[in-house]
Parts: sequence; C-alpha cells; structure tokens
Amino acid sequence: MKTTASAVKTLCDMPKSHVQKLILKLPQNTHLQQLGLARSAAARLQVLRTLRDVHPDIFSEVLWLAEGKNLPDQKDIDLVPLKSNILCLVEACRKLKVKYTIDSQRGIVAVYVKPKQPPLYFKRSRAPFNSAVVSEICKDKDALNSILQDSVHTPKGECYLDPDVEERYQPYRMHLSLKAIAKDAMAKLGLPLIVKPNAGSEGRNVAKCTNSREVITALAEIYNKDSADYDSLALLQEYVEIAHEYRAVAFMGTVLLVYEKDISKAQHTDNFSPLHWQGAVAKHITDKSILASLQEFTSNIYSKLAIEYCGYDIAIDKTGKMWLIEANTVPMFTIFLEHNSADLLIDMYEKILHTLFTPTSR
Ligand SMILES: Nc1ncnc2c1ncn2[C@@H]1O[C@H](COP(=O)(O)OP(=O)(O)O)[C@@H](O)[C@H]1O
Ligand SMILES: [Mg+2]
Repeated sequence: MKTTASAVKTLCDMPKSHVQKLILKLPQNTHLQQLGLARSAAARLQVLRTLRDVHPDIFSEVLWLAEGKNLPDQKDIDLVPLKSNILCLVEACRKLKVKYTIDSQRGIVAVYVKPKQPPLYFKRSRAPFNSAVVSEICKDKDALNSILQDSVHTPKGECYLDPDVEERYQPYRMHLSLKAIAKDAMAKLGLPLIVKPNAGSEGRNVAKCTNSREVITALAEIYNKDSADYDSLALLQEYVEIAHEYRAVAFMGTVLLVYEKDISKAQHTDNFSPLHWQGAVAKHITDKSILASLQEFTSNIYSKLAIEYCGYDIAIDKTGKMWLIEANTVPMFTIFLEHNSADLLIDMYEKILHTLFTPTSR
C-alpha cells in the first residue's frame, strides 16, 4: 500500500483523462483504497482534497463514482455537493451503456442518442426537450393559465402592470396606483389573495394577503426596481387552501417522479414556498392512487400545450380538488436529492433515455 504522500503524487501526476478512466473502470463497491492510493480515511480525504484542487473539473464526477467506495464523511469534503442531477444523468447513461461526455465544471452532459447525429445537451437543470417558446410560456404564469384554464383547474387570477413601469410600456397600464390595483383585484377575486411576481421562481416575493394594506405592500415588493427580483407584472390569484402539494416531473406525457412538498413537521419562514420552510421534506411518493390521479390531471394539459419535460406544482385542496400552481420547465432536484436516494433520480433519467431510444406517439 502506498503512503498518502505518494498516493497524492500519483493522482496529481496522472493526466486527468487517466484519473477519469481509472475511476470509470472501478466496479461497484470497490473501495477507494483498493486503487492503491491511500489506506486510512484521513489519507483518502487528503487524496480527495488534492484531487479537488488539481482536477476541479472532474472532481465532482470522481466523488460521485467513488460514492459507496469507502469515502470519508461527506461533511469533510467541502465545496462540491456529492449529488447532482447531471451526475445522476451520467450514471443513467453508464447503466444503459449510452455514450456520453461530461464537462463537470460547466455542468454540461452530451448524450449521444443517434449515431452520426450531434448529441443532446443537458446543462445543469436544463434539458433539451422543450421549445424556447413553450418554456417562455410556462415562465409567464398568467399566459400559461390563460392557455390551460379550460383544461385543468388553475387559480383564477389577474395580472397587473407596474404603474411606474418604464415609459414605453406605460400605454399598457390599466391602473395607475397600487391602491387602484388592490381595489380592482379584491373586487374581482375576493380575499385572501395570493400576490406573486408573474415570472417569479423559488417562492420569492409570494405573499398571502388578507387586506388591502397587505396587497399594496406585496405589490411594492414586486415592483421594487432596486431589487434583483423586480417584475413589472404582478399576478394576483384567488387563494387555494392547499392540503397537499406535489411536484410531478413528467416527460413526454408520462409522470416519472413525484414528491410531496411535505410541511407537516415544518415551520414557516419568510418564504411562502413550502420546500423553503424550516424542516420541510421532499417526500418521494409511491402511492399508486396519488400517482394515477397526478397522471390523469397532467394528461389534460397536452392537448393545449406540448410541454415535453416539466416539473408541475400541483396542489390538492381541502375538498380533494386538484390545482395546477406552476409548470416548471427547468425543474431542480437539489432539495429532492438532499432528502432521497440518488437512485430515484437515476431511475428517472433511465426512463427518459429509454423513451428517447424507443419513440412512442402520444
Ligand atoms: N393561488 C395560490 N393559492 C395558494 N397557494 C399558492 C397559490 N399560488 C402559489 N401558492 C403557493 O406558493 C408557492 C409558490 O408559488 P409559485 O406560483 O409556485 O411561485 P414560484 O415560481 O416562486 O415557485 C406554491 O408552491 C404554493 O405553495
Ligand atoms: Mg413553484
């Protein structure tokens, strides 16, 4: 067995393509020490730290491939998250023996689906399946709801332009003050109201308002030009009494992965979005009847809008009625991976790859 110093030197001297190949060749459950690199946990940690500094571009991939191979505690390996969606995608490619290349530093994976054709590129959470226009429509919550309102339940809502919007858009204003917007929305939608940026994400600036003063405060947050989260459009919606909220990830019409945004043991923080509550859990759902009802619900979307790949936020209210809250064409898996085995995401990517290789008509 080599000393730590020589193990570090071995790794550093190796061209990175060799390190990559070496790790790729490892059978499952091979202990890192069997590489002949380092014996003790402390030594392996030092090897990995060095690897991180010398070959940062392949470090996360190496960590991933080495997972389960007698690594030191995750908490000791600072900086790079051990799990990421692109590494799950890579693992799915490896399992299905699909050709791929990875640029871990830039978060890009190229998957070779058809011979003699350019690869499909994935970049971090972005997948190559939706058209730019479909993605744009999904980001525009008001536009999405207007397209889908006759097919699925969406909260009734009204969209309002910032009264102080830049001059060229001012002809489109319908209301000239926050007070006037609040008055109009309350007359049309009642109270309580949800006020949110029309193109927001991650629960930023989403507020439940129970009176006119709160509506005005929430609007002022959204129309704050000094904030990075400024949105010239605010969407005001009827408030849905949510009993359960799910994230259903679907590809080409089929729901592949579902988790509940479980807040049963969580404390509300300053963010209205459930997974941002303290103690919230992304709970993987396997219950067949829930999966079937989410499949049925999302199936109603596709005759109106061809969304190929999406994470739908779907709420069930106290009466059991389902509501589409949001369609996220760039679903992130960071929180899901914190609470669940990466195998579930690898499995999802395997299903996606499988569909790509066996085209079906919807
Ligand atoms: N009309 C509504 N009624 C009740 N809760 C809502 C409503 N709209 C959004 N929410 C809650 O706020 C969260 C964030 O809203 P969402 O529209 O998904 O914005 P974001 O894009 O910021 O995630 C949702 O996950 C849901 O829990
Ligand atoms: Mg959302």
